[in-house]
Amino acid sequence: MNKLALHSNFETLIENFATNQIGICDHFLSEELAAKLKIDLISLFQDDQFNSAGTGNHETLQTNQLIRKDKIYWLDRNHNNPFQNSFFDLLDDFIVYLNSTCFTGITGYEFHYTYYEKDSFYKKHIDQFKNNNDRAFSMIIYLNENWKKEDGGELNIFQCNSSQLISPLSGKCVFFKSSELAHEVLVTQLPRLSITGWLKTN
Ligand code: OGA
Ligand code: MN
Repeated sequence: MNKLALHSNFETLIENFATNQIGICDHFLSEELAAKLKIDLISLFQDDQFNSAGTGNHETLQTNQLIRKDKIYWLDRNHNNPFQNSFFDLLDDFIVYLNSTCFTGITGYEFHYTYYEKDSFYKKHIDQFKNNNDRAFSMIIYLNENWKKEDGGELNIFQCNSSQLISPLSGKCVFFKSSELAHEVLVTQLPRLSITGWLKTN
């Protein structure tokens, strides 16, 4: 993606966020990068590299299958995986843009691949830990082509008196403040793939 297209995506995300508290950009990832990340995710999943996700951080970690049933794999530049690193390059560009236009002071991030098997979900929650407020913004990027209404698995974000259902379509990015918006993942009827992460301050 050229710089102009890239920045117009960043603007879309930030402007939506500024007006509705929820930023959505439908083509945050190019189709090519989304396809490569999806292949990488599936191959790691098939190699048994994913773990059941927990709730809370290291001090309160508990795997609670009644709250969430997704499986995760933490991304890291040290894996020297070209697709994961292209994703991090994109994120680094976004963070420079966000910090310079919104003075957000983001200094780091953490991201994982997420795999929801059929019949999985994540009950209503907030992303910030009780004992730590480093997580400033939540970002979720989806990797599911041709997702249909009957496939379920929507992200449902709660606001004052309403809620917004967001389908997990490939390339789409959702961006919101981690401390503020409660949200849930509805039961999925198909495997549902995504990248989930948090932009951090400290
Ligand atoms: C999470 C989460 C939403 C989604 O992992 O904390 O809320 O749409 N994910 O995958
Ligand atoms: Mn969440």
